[in-house]
Amino acid sequence: NYLKLFSPATVANVSCGFDSLGFAVDTVGDEMTFIKTAEKGVKITAITGANLSYNVDENAASAVVKKMLNEANADFGVALTISKGYSPGSGLGSSAASAAGAAFGANQLLGNIYSNLELVKFAMFGEEVACGSQIADNVAAAIYGGFVLIRSYEPLEIIKLPVPKELKLVAIHPQVEVKTKDARAVLPSKIDLKDAITQWANVGGLISGLYREDYQLISNSLVDIIVEPYRKKLIPHFDEVKNAAIKSGALGAGISGSGPTIFALCKGDEDANKVHSAINESYKNTGIAYTLFTSKIN
Ligand code: HSE
Repeated sequence: NYLKLFSPATVANVSCGFDSLGFAVDTVGDEMTFIKTAEKGVKITAITGANLSYNVDENAASAVVKKMLNEANADFGVALTISKGYSPGSGLGSSAASAAGAAFGANQLLGNIYSNLELVKFAMFGEEVACGSQIADNVAAAIYGGFVLIRSYEPLEIIKLPVPKELKLVAIHPQVEVKTKDARAVLPSKIDLKDAITQWANVGGLISGLYREDYQLISNSLVDIIVEPYRKKLIPHFDEVKNAAIKSGALGAGISGSGPTIFALCKGDEDANKVHSAINESYKNTGIAYTLFTSKIN
C-alpha cells in the first residue's frame, strides 16, 4: 500500500537518433512515493526540488496516475509525492522521469496489470500534458532502462538494446532553460536525402556498435548532422564543450534531448574522468552556472 521509487534522468536522441534513441542515467533522477488511499482519486501531497503544478490534470505524474486508475476501474485512490532531483527544461527528460515513475508506481499498486509497452503509452500521455507532444524516447528509456530504440510510433514498438560494459556518461547541465517546444520549433520540416542517408547509416552503426561492444564504431557513429546544427545555437558554448570532450578522449558528444545538457560518452572510468575535467575547464570561466556529473548507463 506504500511504494517509494527512483525514476531516472534520460538522454534522448543520442546524437543520430532523433526521437528514436534514448538511454537511462544511473545516478540522477527523481524520487516518488505512492500511498494507496481508500478515497478514490489522485492527489499530490508534496513536490520538492522544482516549482511544478499541484493541479492533478496539469502535472505529468498525477495526470498519468489518474488516467491509469480510471482505465483500470480502480476502487482506491493514490496520494503522491514527487522529489525532483534535477530541474525541468534540462534536456534530461525531467517530465519523462515524473511520467514514467508515475506509470510504474501506479502499475505496482494496481497489481502489475500492465506491460512495459503499455506503461510507456501511459507515460507518453504525461509527456503530452507536460510539453505538448507524445514523444517516447525519454519515457521508454526510463521504463525499460539501458538503451532503447523506438522502432515505430504507430504501432508503438520498443527494442531494448545492450549497454556495453565500459560505456560511461559525462554530462554538463548549464543552468539555462531550453523548452522542448522551442527547440523543436527551430528544426527544418524537410531534410536532404544526402543528409538522411548519413544519419540513418549512423543510427545503424551506433546500434551495431552497442551489440558488438565496438567502441570505435560507436565513436564513428555518434554524429548528428540534422538536428544539432540548428539546436546548438540555443546552447551557450556548445562547440567548446564538444571539442574539449572529444580532444580529451570522449567517443562522441552531443545535445542531450532538446538541451541545454550536453552529453559525452566515454570508454571506461579513466577516460570519463579526463573528459569530466576537460569539460569543467572549458566551462568554469563562462560565467554561467552549471552542474557536471559522470554516471553509468543502467
Ligand atoms: N527527442 C525529443 C527532442 C526529446 O529532441 O525534441 C525531448 O523530449
